[in-house]
Amino acid sequence: MNHAIDNSVRKIGDREFHKLSSFIEQEVGIKLPPVKRTLLESRLQKRLKSLSIPDFGEYCDFVFNTDEGALEVIEMIDAVTTNKTDFMRESAHFEFMVHTALPELMKNKSEIKLWSAACSSGQEPYNMAMFMEEFIERTHRVDYSITATDISKSSLVKARRAVYQMRDIEIVSEQFKKKYFLRSRNPESSEIRIKPDIRNKVFFQPINLMKEDYGLNVKFDIVFCRNVLIYFNKENQSEVIRRILNHMNSGAYLFLGHSESLAGMRQNLRSVGASVYRKE
Ligand SMILES: C[S@@+](CC[C@H](N)C(=O)[O-])C[C@H]1O[C@@H](n2cnc3c(N)ncnc32)[C@H](O)[C@@H]1O
Repeated sequence: MNHAIDNSVRKIGDREFHKLSSFIEQEVGIKLPPVKRTLLESRLQKRLKSLSIPDFGEYCDFVFNTDEGALEVIEMIDAVTTNKTDFMRESAHFEFMVHTALPELMKNKSEIKLWSAACSSGQEPYNMAMFMEEFIERTHRVDYSITATDISKSSLVKARRAVYQMRDIEIVSEQFKKKYFLRSRNPESSEIRIKPDIRNKVFFQPINLMKEDYGLNVKFDIVFCRNVLIYFNKENQSEVIRRILNHMNSGAYLFLGHSESLAGMRQNLRSVGASVYRKE
């Protein structure tokens, strides 16, 4: 494509907004009602610019009517997902995991399988591993592994790299910083990295929670699916929970984000704490 490109903002028309928002909701669940029009428009600016596409009409043509469109969908999804996450986010959940869920599960298990079902750039699953290590240190040896999945390709790249900024771990205790993070050898650098023994416990893979088959042949004991369902409508939330439940052992724990709830959903789950559920 050889269009003269300026740096002005491309405006999204009604037809294009409708086409793109319906497609995104159907593919990945993220709802984009008309009030989110400016958000979609601004998040896709960089896609149009990097493809040198002058307007949203041509962008839709490219996405929906060309062979390369399928690859662009991956980039588009990357651009529209909100990947905000933090170490120690909603930390009461980690306390609940260590003090309530694990002692309960350990009554009849010697191996624990965990899943971070929208792991973003990795802070959540690495935190899960750190708290598993704390549990092991304080109580007894247990084998565990953590599956960490997300739809965002660029988030998974960051997560696998496990390199963060010093400011990202300001919230983390000094004890955790020493035990689980490595400073760069370069004293000028503000980067830190998760230590290999924690990294080696977490296995990342792409999974779209909206797909019927997640391709997982594991059943989990602890599932974190936090701060992703808020972007979905009720029906899709319910479908995602149903599919996640198929991958949970009975007695397994499900942690949702603090602003998410299963109110009104008829699922095989009992509330056992703040945004914590147990499969019956
Ligand atoms: C706000 S982040 C939450 C990260 C982490 N769970 C937390 O609570 O800090 C939401 C994540 O959900 C992912 N996501 C959105 N739609 C998804 C889908 N259909 N399947 C899998 N992941 C999805 C996004 O890519 C993003 O990384």
